[in-house]
Amino acid sequence: MPKIGNSLTQSHKYIEHFVEEGDTVIDATAGNGSDTVFLAKLVGESGHVYSFDVQQIALDRTAEKLDSLDLRDRVDLINDGHENLDNYVKSKVKAVMFNLGYLPRGDHNIGTRAKTTITAIQKSMELLVVGGIISIVVYHGGDSGFDEKIQVIEYLGKLEPKKYVVMKTEFINQENCPPILVCIEKISE
Ligand SMILES: C[S@@+](CC[C@H](N)C(=O)[O-])C[C@H]1O[C@@H](n2cnc3c(N)ncnc32)[C@H](O)[C@@H]1O
Repeated sequence: MPKIGNSLTQSHKYIEHFVEEGDTVIDATAGNGSDTVFLAKLVGESGHVYSFDVQQIALDRTAEKLDSLDLRDRVDLINDGHENLDNYVKSKVKAVMFNLGYLPRGDHNIGTRAKTTITAIQKSMELLVVGGIISIVVYHGGDSGFDEKIQVIEYLGKLEPKKYVVMKTEFINQENCPPILVCIEKISE
């Protein structure tokens, strides 16, 4: 692995920079549970993680990982779309992680979609404290296609600059459409 890392490792570095023990955070796409475990460790015993996925198998895999590390108590696993996250999360949050696309070792047809992803990002921005961060790892090409990436980037590029700083990083000399990372920092209400 190059020291620069990839979009996933870079997202963890940014999140680590913002999240502290005791924080409330969201994993918007639980998948196989790696990001939920990462967040559960960061927020510590006094913090809380809300973790969403539309597939029970993803939540089962995530629960298994959390159980094995004795982290299950600090996580709510929610079998619903992240576009409904405001039905479950009633407090402000410090960070929201999105890892778009489909479940590795799962059905490639059940992936995230532009419309619901954008709704979830909008709702996340509402819940975010000033000084909080949203990270989005965006897969494109292959079974993910390009539609979601194009629409999400177009939407984020129009956010009010006095309220949000939006950064996009991408690898421009690699093959097979490597995922890109987008981070949104809320700088004022
Ligand atoms: C690339 S995987 C996430 C990987 C995960 N973060 C990890 O650490 O393993 C994307 C996940 O998003 C889920 N997903 C698709 N649409 C969703 C939605 N509307 N709300 C929440 N999760 C969704 C898929 O079921 C899949 O498990």
